[in-house]
Amino acid sequence: MTFHQWYEQQYRERWKDLSASLAAEVPLTELSNGLAKTYHLDEASVYAASALGALPGERILDACAAPGGKTLVIAVSMQGTGSLTANDRSSARRARLHRVLNEHLDEHTRNSISITSHDASRWGLYEQNEYDRILLDVPCSSERHVMQSPKELARWNPSRSRRLAVQQFAMAAAALEAVKPGGRILYSTCSISELENDGVMEKLLVRRAGRCSVTPPEGIPWGEPTRHGWIILPDRCGGRGPLYIAVISKAKQEQSL
Ligand SMILES: C[S@@+](CC[C@H](N)C(=O)[O-])C[C@H]1O[C@@H](n2cnc3c(N)ncnc32)[C@H](O)[C@@H]1O
Repeated sequence: MTFHQWYEQQYRERWKDLSASLAAEVPLTELSNGLAKTYHLDEASVYAASALGALPGERILDACAAPGGKTLVIAVSMQGTGSLTANDRSSARRARLHRVLNEHLDEHTRNSISITSHDASRWGLYEQNEYDRILLDVPCSSERHVMQSPKELARWNPSRSRRLAVQQFAMAAAALEAVKPGGRILYSTCSISELENDGVMEKLLVRRAGRCSVTPPEGIPWGEPTRHGWIILPDRCGGRGPLYIAVISKAKQEQSL
C-alpha cells in the first residue's frame, strides 16, 4: 500500500485538500516575547507548548526536546524559576538544542535548564512521581516531512506508523510514572496518523485504567476535536500543523480495578 492510499483510507474525500496543504510550506510565526533573540516556528507549536500550562517554580520535563522550539515557550513561562529538564536521546539533535537555548535565552533563564540524554521510554524506571508537568512531543511519522522528500516517500510503508505507535505508547506510559499524582502530561505529535494520536491515548486509557484521564487542551483557536484530543490540520487552519495534542492527567489517587 502506498502513502497516499493509506491516508486516503483514513481521510477519504478530505485527503485531496489535506495532502495539498501538507505539501506546501508551513507558515512560521515569530516568537520574541521574553527571548534574547527571535525564534521562528509553526504557531501551532506555540499553542501546544503553552497548553502544558507550566507555572513559575514548577518542576518540568520536556522529554523529547530538540531542536527546542517548545522548550523556549516553556522556559519563558517559567521566568527562570523552578527547574526545567530538556531531554533528547539524539546527540546531533541535542547539539542543536544547546545552540537554540544558548542563542535565544538570556543567561539567567538558560542556567535554569538542564539538558539530558535519556531514553524517554525508560524514564519511569528511574524517576517516579517527580514532575509537576511533562511535555511529551514524541518522535512521529511527520507526514509533512515525508511528503517533501521523494526519498522518504519512496521508503514509507504502513509498518512505520505501527512501530512508532508502540514506541509512543512506551513513552506515554513512562511519563505517567514520572509525573506527580495530580500532574499533567501534554502528549503531542506532528502526525496525521490516527494510530499515533488517539490510538496511543486509547491504549493508555485501557492499559492504565484508573490511573489517568485524557482530555483535549483548552483555548486552541484553530483545529478540531478528535475522540480523545485535538488536531490542527493545515487544510483548515491556514497551513498550520499538523499537530495532535492531548492532555493526560494523572489521578491524584490511583483507583484499584
Ligand atoms: C518531534 S521531535 C521534538 C521536537 C521538539 N519538541 C521541538 O519542539 O523542537 C522528537 C524528538 O524526540 C527525540 N527522540 C527520539 N527517540 C527518543 C527517545 N527514546 N528518548 C528521548 N528522545 C527521543 C528525537 O531525537 C527528536 O528530537
